[in-house]
Amino acid sequence: MRSVEASLRRLGTDHIDLYQTHGWDGRTPWEETLRALDDLVRAGKVRYVGASNLTSWQLTRALATSERLGLERFVSHQIQYSLAAREVEWELLPMAEAEGVGVMVWSPLAGGLLSGHQERGAAPPSGTRRAVGWFEPVDPERTFDTIEVLRKIAAERRVSPAQVALRWALDGRGVTSVVIGARNERQLTDNLAATTWSLTAEERADLDAVSAPPLPYPYWHQDYCDADRVRESEGE
Ligand SMILES: NC(=O)c1ccc[n+]([C@@H]2O[C@H](COP(=O)([O-])OP(=O)(O)OC[C@H]3O[C@@H](n4cnc5c(N)ncnc54)[C@H](OP(=O)(O)O)[C@@H]3O)[C@@H](O)[C@H]2O)c1
Repeated sequence: MRSVEASLRRLGTDHIDLYQTHGWDGRTPWEETLRALDDLVRAGKVRYVGASNLTSWQLTRALATSERLGLERFVSHQIQYSLAAREVEWELLPMAEAEGVGVMVWSPLAGGLLSGHQERGAAPPSGTRRAVGWFEPVDPERTFDTIEVLRKIAAERRVSPAQVALRWALDGRGVTSVVIGARNERQLTDNLAATTWSLTAEERADLDAVSAPPLPYPYWHQDYCDADRVRESEGE
């Protein structure tokens, strides 16, 4: 409550449109957190509440708790998603779609790496965020293979690789919006231009193929069984 009051003072406003929790708090029962958030909405200080960085079962339990107690439910989930981080496709994106929760993507350029500013095997250029120790883990081989495809599409389309990566994230199934980061006005203008054009199905398929991480269990098993069902339904 004190934090929200302080935010309202700093922002010079009387309400916050979307108030998002930053991560998992394993020490506080959902009932308590959700009652506090509900009180803020009832008091008119917050319009909607969202979550960030939760696992699928944590968010599902929060939604069930809201439903059970008649409290405000999370309307959005802010999660990491990019061509270098596609794990949310296995669980968090389908779950959000099934539960009617909006998804806001953070780090759509993997902290700048997908702008193509860094060569394979070389250090990040000085002055960039990655050069000062951005911690986001990526698979280096797969990511630099992906950057090659990004650069190729960007050159053919006469746009920046960053725009191609943002366009891919914007079109992700279950993605509502992309939270962009920009260090200067040029980057901001460039990033906004990603909303003005579309990838072809072939370009998207090329990006999907080169950036796909290996499927862990039980996703590979479900994929395998689904493939069986498709074969059966086709009479093979
Ligand atoms: N919920 C969470 O836990 C969480 C976590 C992280 C971020 N976020 C939110 O998500 C926002 C976006 O994340 P992010 O900043 O990591 O996004 P990002 O798009 O992955 O990285 C942004 C960085 O990429 C570079 N860049 C951006 N546009 C570019 C362009 N057009 N051309 C070349 N380089 C470009 C800039 O760094 P350089 O120029 O220095 O390379 C910029 O600082 C953050 O501002 C924050 O609000 C939330």
